[in-house]
Amino acid sequence: MTARTFVIIKPDAVAAGHVGDILTRYEQAGLRIVTMDMRTITPEFAERHYAEHVGRDYYPALSEFMTSGPLVAVVLEGEDVIARVRALHGATDPTKADPGTIRADYAESTRHNAVHASDSPESAASEIALWYPDL
Ligand code: PPS
Repeated sequence: MTARTFVIIKPDAVAAGHVGDILTRYEQAGLRIVTMDMRTITPEFAERHYAEHVGRDYYPALSEFMTSGPLVAVVLEGEDVIARVRALHGATDPTKADPGTIRADYAESTRHNAVHASDSPESAASEIALWYPDL
């Protein structure tokens, strides 16, 4: 079934010049870019996106990183898109990411890990509504 998911190309990958390659990987997998833009988010907006992580020991580092510079916010559409995008990304910890995945190629650490993707249909719906309320 065709569905949508939400992806962030994180500030580390933007700064390193990997936006074009990452978008190409989605398109070559047959996924469609519904909308996208570049923005720099505030700590308040990061708390809304990562609501379930606020209060974890790693949250201050995660917030500092995600607000450190421009990121690219992307809505993707396709068959089985949530699972397929997570497979393209690889594991959150790049030392556990399969060869050829985006994180194996570009992530430095669990913090500087290049990309984010929704992990369920429910999180995709809430993240798309947060980042693109008019979509
Ligand atoms: S969980 O509980 O399975 O959802 O957690 P996980 O997927 O491993 O991580 C959730 C997000 O938190 C980020 N993270 C960190 N950021 C900074 N420092 C540390 N130590 C750290 N550990 C986890 C991780 O990159 C995930 O970000 P997203 O954007 O969801 O990929």
